[in-house]
Amino acid sequence: MSIVSELRNRFRQALDGLVTTPDRTAELLDMVQPSQDPRFGDYQANMAMPLKKELGRSPREIAAELIARLDVADMALDPEIAGPGFINLRLRDAWLAERLEAAIEDPRLGIPHASQTRTYVIDYSAPNVAKPMHVGHIRSTVIGDSLYRTLKFLGHRVISDNHVGDWGTQFGMILYGYQHFRNEESYRANPVAELARLYRLVRQLMDYHEAQAELPRLRARVAEREESLRQAQTGQRGAHQAGKQSGKSLRRLEAEVAEIREELASLEKKLAAVERDPELFRLAQEHPNIGADVLAETAKLHAGDAERRRLWQEFLPHCEDEINRVYQRLGVRFDYTLGESFYHDRLAPLVEELLRRGIATESDGAICIFLEGQVAPMIVRKQDGAFLYATTDLATLRYRMETWRPDAILYVVDHRQSLHFAQLFAVGRLLGYSDVDLRHISFGTVLGEDGRPFRTREGDTVGLEALLDEAVRRAAQIVEANDQAKPNGPELSPEERRRIAETVGIAALKYADLSQNRTSDYVFSFDKMLAMNGNTATYMQYAYARVRSIFAKGNVDVEALRTSGGRIRLETPAERALGLELLRFAEALELTVADFRPNQLTAYLFGLANCYSTFFENCPVLKAGNEELRQSRLLLCDLTARTIRQGLELLGIDVVDRM
Ligand code: ARG
Repeated sequence: MSIVSELRNRFRQALDGLVTTPDRTAELLDMVQPSQDPRFGDYQANMAMPLKKELGRSPREIAAELIARLDVADMALDPEIAGPGFINLRLRDAWLAERLEAAIEDPRLGIPHASQTRTYVIDYSAPNVAKPMHVGHIRSTVIGDSLYRTLKFLGHRVISDNHVGDWGTQFGMILYGYQHFRNEESYRANPVAELARLYRLVRQLMDYHEAQAELPRLRARVAEREESLRQAQTGQRGAHQAGKQSGKSLRRLEAEVAEIREELASLEKKLAAVERDPELFRLAQEHPNIGADVLAETAKLHAGDAERRRLWQEFLPHCEDEINRVYQRLGVRFDYTLGESFYHDRLAPLVEELLRRGIATESDGAICIFLEGQVAPMIVRKQDGAFLYATTDLATLRYRMETWRPDAILYVVDHRQSLHFAQLFAVGRLLGYSDVDLRHISFGTVLGEDGRPFRTREGDTVGLEALLDEAVRRAAQIVEANDQAKPNGPELSPEERRRIAETVGIAALKYADLSQNRTSDYVFSFDKMLAMNGNTATYMQYAYARVRSIFAKGNVDVEALRTSGGRIRLETPAERALGLELLRFAEALELTVADFRPNQLTAYLFGLANCYSTFFENCPVLKAGNEELRQSRLLLCDLTARTIRQGLELLGIDVVDRM
């Protein structure tokens, strides 16, 4: 159990009889927290102040009563009351040392299994196959993977299910492309590359016609908004004292104009890209109905057309190879990959059932579910009979409930789908799944250094593999420079350098993502993610390698050290601070899964590495004053290395012994 949970348990007993509802108790117990400032002890309990009203006494009196009822003598010194009624707790050094000694002997570093084991299904990554993975897939993949690892480590039953898009319009696109544009030779030589080319080509032609159709409307809109803006501007000049309100709406109007002008520019760019290229332009002219035809291909596939099914069967393994290659490099595995196609046969009966149970109704020929408090209904069957993404997700929800009976399902999907998930969860409850905790683990967008969604200079999304390659290439430069700069000359063979660069490069990419608060957008920067200083994987891996190098340098047999029964001594502030931080690993994991935020874990590891640096600067290890102290410090080093390694592993990041 984490220290904070242990303290909360003690406080729960102290509150027993003072506070009557469990909800209120839980709220108050949340106010037991690590202190921000060591002068106020290691932990603080701030619950006396809010209790003033219900107990009708001064907070200092309440604090005194709580202390009288509190039994923490084994773990902490006498609690102190500060200011208006803060309770400050300082843990006993001997208690800390004992816990650290127990952690040394424990392969789990003293982290217990969760007292209540729950079943989690995690839905993450889920790319639409048949098109290359892009930068947007990183976040879902690495956040999901890290939650999977962490929940599992805590002893829960966790099932990862990759809900790949293997049945959508993108297959209509490659079916169409294959029939009209394929290069047989290229397809035979490298099917994945040829399918990707076909996808891009069809995409471009569809975009072209869509843009053409859209252009007049958008132009008219730009003109109309520009006119409104002009009027507003002259109107404002006329009305001498411009009120704050009109200033605001003027700015809004300006922003709006800028936005649609940009939209227009991007549309024109798409058109120009095709028109510039005679061959592409010819194809565009020859395939004026490509949008509708692609939809027809998808519909035929879904309707069971033999030839389309055969082609789909042929394409799918190639598409899978493509994503599996990326997963392998990322070190990500799934328990199940039940794509959209898996649910196809379940959709029609599900919609019938929804109708029968009165959950769905017909509206303008479409089958819809109207939900309270939501403007748009969830459509589960279109007028033309086609099923939708939402229909598949409902069938998937049912399947998961029936197959695994989970306590929670986590959907790690970007924030743009929040309406979809709000609707899905609401319908799930109508279907009777009210006990399961359905969560949209939403995340923000990856931005380029210009602050806009990360794209290539040509305006395309950035391919994931190219990104991995670039990260590894840059990591290789760092590894090489580091190695060259070693005091006794380079130590690594070319092969070792390559291996290390792959580990360091991939780690940098993952960590950069995981260390962000998932709900915010973040700026993608190779320079920042590979920096040797700061909260980066490179820094953490380097910290790990540095700790490990002490053992090599001192010729220390780590196994023997761990079993030597050596004692931990926390004599200086730096040693004590490091010891306490090591014991906070459990707390960091609790925080990570409380709101499914891996950045809680990266923040902890970064703090730990910093405590270690301070310790290392202040406390000689190999040259410690006496053998006992040397042992104790080596043990702290070893625990630090193990904690960093374990923490990184839960993030899906490998360490290297040397860099
Ligand atoms: N394939 C979808 C997309 O690329 C994501 C699927 C997420 N999972 C789900 N159950 N809807 O947008």
